[in-house]
Amino acid sequence: MNGYTRNRLEGKVAIITGGASGFGESTVRLFVKHGAKVVIADVQDDLGLSLCNKLATKFGYNNILYVHCDVTQDSDVKNTVDTAISTFGKLDIMFNNAGITGTIDFSILNSDNENFKRVFDVNVFGAFLGAKHAARVMIPAKQGVILFTSSVASVLSGESPHAYTMSKHAVVGLMKNLCVELGQYGIRVNSISPGSVSTPLLTAAMGLDKAAVDGILCASAVLKEVVPTADDVAEAALYLGSDASKYVTGVNLVVDGGYSTTNPTYSRVIKQTFEDLVKG
Ligand SMILES: NC(=O)c1ccc[n+]([C@@H]2O[C@H](COP(=O)([O-])OP(=O)(O)OC[C@H]3O[C@@H](n4cnc5c(N)ncnc54)[C@H](O)[C@@H]3O)[C@@H](O)[C@H]2O)c1
Repeated sequence: MNGYTRNRLEGKVAIITGGASGFGESTVRLFVKHGAKVVIADVQDDLGLSLCNKLATKFGYNNILYVHCDVTQDSDVKNTVDTAISTFGKLDIMFNNAGITGTIDFSILNSDNENFKRVFDVNVFGAFLGAKHAARVMIPAKQGVILFTSSVASVLSGESPHAYTMSKHAVVGLMKNLCVELGQYGIRVNSISPGSVSTPLLTAAMGLDKAAVDGILCASAVLKEVVPTADDVAEAALYLGSDASKYVTGVNLVVDGGYSTTNPTYSRVIKQTFEDLVKG
């Protein structure tokens, strides 16, 4: 590691929602490794506290904290931001990453209304509350980074349930609107749109173990010879959270190995047509 790549977040304070698992957990680990002080915010208290204690043993108890935070509750999100300020003195990076898939139902006729509301509550209202409370402390400081986890579902249609797809489009809409509003205060706002990765969210949704999910993802990938991991998303968050991206705002960074650049169904059908022609 040279001087540039080491401690890219030295002196920064970050909150990561959904920080106990998956992308959030990987980002917590990477941010702490790069010198940030991190607040893990989640509803999985056992997982969050265990991660916190593990990292505190290695990086010191002054650098990491777990706060119970249900992102759908204004008072929880307010408390998380206020705790970051009272413990670490400021907030540089707010990563609104917590999210759920909701029930995996692709048919609008079968879509459950309560599930729709729950998905929007966590994925959209939760992201909105995180941004709102972060802006409350970042505007007076005239600096900060607000990040969201959207999804490849924000740029690719027909592969996720309606509620989830809509919620991830909404996150990108919020990101862009905020980019315009908060730019005047020097606050950058970006989102990351990962493709499928075998985190607990996806393995649970697919009802398969990690190895089986990885097999399916690799078989359907555009970019071969690489297995997508949560660390790939954490690296994107590190870039967007650090000063290396100091002139980058309003961007929805797609991290999907090129998956969304093409529609494989089209080329499969075309190839089949040619094969049928050749066969006569
Ligand atoms: N895994 C994928 O394939 C994939 C792809 C694209 C986008 N995403 C998005 O990435 C984000 C992280 O997902 P992941 O795959 O790491 O899943 P994950 O389930 O491993 O982690 C999500 C975390 O969010 C937490 N969470 C859920 N509801 C919460 C709430 N109300 N308040 C606070 N925390 C809450 C969970 O407890 C969990 O720790 C989500 O927004 C998800 O939609 C995931």
